[in-house]
Amino acid sequence: MDDAPVTLITGGSRGIGAAVARQLLALGHRVAVTGRDPDRLARFAGSLGDPPGLLTHAGDAADHEAVQAAVDGTVAAFGRLDAAVANAGYATHDGLADGDPAGWAHMVLTNVLGPALLIRTALPALKRTRGRIVLVGSVAGLINMPGNLYGVTKWAVTGLAENTRQLVTGDGVGVTLVSPGGVETNFFDPIGGPPSDRPGGYLSADDLAGAIVWALTQPPGVDVNTLTVRPVGSPR
Ligand SMILES: NC(=O)c1ccc[n+]([C@@H]2O[C@H](COP(=O)([O-])OP(=O)(O)OC[C@H]3O[C@@H](n4cnc5c(N)ncnc54)[C@H](OP(=O)(O)O)[C@@H]3O)[C@@H](O)[C@H]2O)c1
Repeated sequence: MDDAPVTLITGGSRGIGAAVARQLLALGHRVAVTGRDPDRLARFAGSLGDPPGLLTHAGDAADHEAVQAAVDGTVAAFGRLDAAVANAGYATHDGLADGDPAGWAHMVLTNVLGPALLIRTALPALKRTRGRIVLVGSVAGLINMPGNLYGVTKWAVTGLAENTRQLVTGDGVGVTLVSPGGVETNFFDPIGGPPSDRPGGYLSADDLAGAIVWALTQPPGVDVNTLTVRPVGSPR
């Protein structure tokens, strides 16, 4: 256990991040997860029996000090960091023409600044382990949809991934962009749940987590750079 790989996941109290944490713990890895709501983090840890290989850090992924504290706390507790998964993110589910701009600033900061802060703060520790960075983008960051500012934030994540890969590959650090299609999670809570008319339906959080864990567990020297994962039947 003391030399088991260590992964820090932002936004890991539920949804895709929590599924990645569960799957890594089942492999015997050690995991730290963040989230804004400390009660939700505590409920997640409790649902797994508060295992010693799981740390929780309450804090906002868009807050530099909080992200630095999560990285520092993980390295202090576990002695190393092998992977950082920039997963925290959300959509305001409104549009440029008639949406509420009051909600946009924090979405942009979470989805764009957040991954940059994780890279900035985790990189020294990842260089020491020749570790990996996973960025959770979206199919919305690969195609255009009318007036979708959330999609614009995910286009930024798409760019950040290759931009970062070129920065860190010489240090032995891998970078994977994972671009999911629809995944049935609390992501859709603001619009009353996943729309039932989506062609192809939805992946489960575990389906998506399986792809992320596969990328994280490649042999040394193998860097999976892009994964697009959609439900079969999804036309875009
Ligand atoms: N579900 C989909 O269809 C879909 C498709 C493509 C991409 N994605 C992306 O997948 C990622 C995970 O989403 P999900 O579907 O798993 O959503 P989710 O079920 O709503 O989970 C989001 C997680 O992130 C945390 N979080 C949100 N904002 C945060 C912030 N500012 N700082 C720290 N933690 C934050 C949440 O906890 P707190 O609320 O307590 O902070 C929660 O643990 C996101 O980047 C999303 O854009 C999702």
